[in-house]
Amino acid sequence: MKHTHAPSTTRLARLTRLALSLSCSLPWMLASGASHAGEHERAGRVPPPKPYVQECAACHVAYPPGMLPAASWTRLMNGLGQHFGTDASLDEKDVRLIHQWLMANADTRSRASAPVPQDRITRTAWFERKHRHIEPDTWRLPSVRSASNCMACHTGADRGQFGEHDLRMPQGLSARQRAAWDD
Ligand code: HEC
Ligand code: HEC
Repeated sequence: MKHTHAPSTTRLARLTRLALSLSCSLPWMLASGASHAGEHERAGRVPPPKPYVQECAACHVAYPPGMLPAASWTRLMNGLGQHFGTDASLDEKDVRLIHQWLMANADTRSRASAPVPQDRITRTAWFERKHRHIEPDTWRLPSVRSASNCMACHTGADRGQFGEHDLRMPQGLSARQRAAWDD
């Protein structure tokens, strides 16, 4: 998949909505780390630079910076040409701007120094713990496809909201998967 710089109308609409919600609400900033760690020092962050919202949310949600340690963000930003099987390259200026912001807002808890497999949020220890009740097959449902697809279950993921009020069961769960979900 090639990353196109001409946004479609739907993408534009989504981005406009996102931009609006970013400019007038705090939750996005708070949610980055606070929602998974309940930490206070993550409050009062600087909002993301424009290219982060525009470019890094083109193929998936703009993942909150506090969900990965700085070392992972650095590797990701240095390897955008080969980004999980796709080309997500950006011009140098945007890379620098985004990288700086990610570094300033990365996960700094002591256990964040542990290496993260594939630099994936979905492979961090905290992610696996938070999702341990989810049946393995649930991730492979057509309505989910990948754990990276946060929006399948977290309807507020594009606003950085991952709390229980913004959760939905993805379509197509079996009775067993439902039971596990409700656990
Ligand atoms: C051209 C599409 C595209 C663009 C643009 C893009 N990504 Fe990705 N990204 C992907 C794909 C595909 C995956 C893998 C998703 C999967 O495994 O289901 C991914 C995965 C990720 C993951 C790991 C998610 C997980 O599983 O925990 C991170 C972090 C990430 N991207 C960050 C970024 C950042 C930062 C940018 C902007 C500099 C960006 N992406 C831009 C396509 C893209
Ligand atoms: C298949 C559905 C599903 C997908 C996809 C999914 N999650 Fe979750 N997530 C859940 C459920 C269900 C919970 C609640 C678990 C519980 O409370 O026991 C949860 C909990 C969380 C929490 C903890 C919230 C809190 O208040 O404690 C965070 C943070 C989170 N998810 C982040 C993510 C991120 C980031 C992604 C994408 C990279 C993602 N999730 C993808 C279903 C999903």
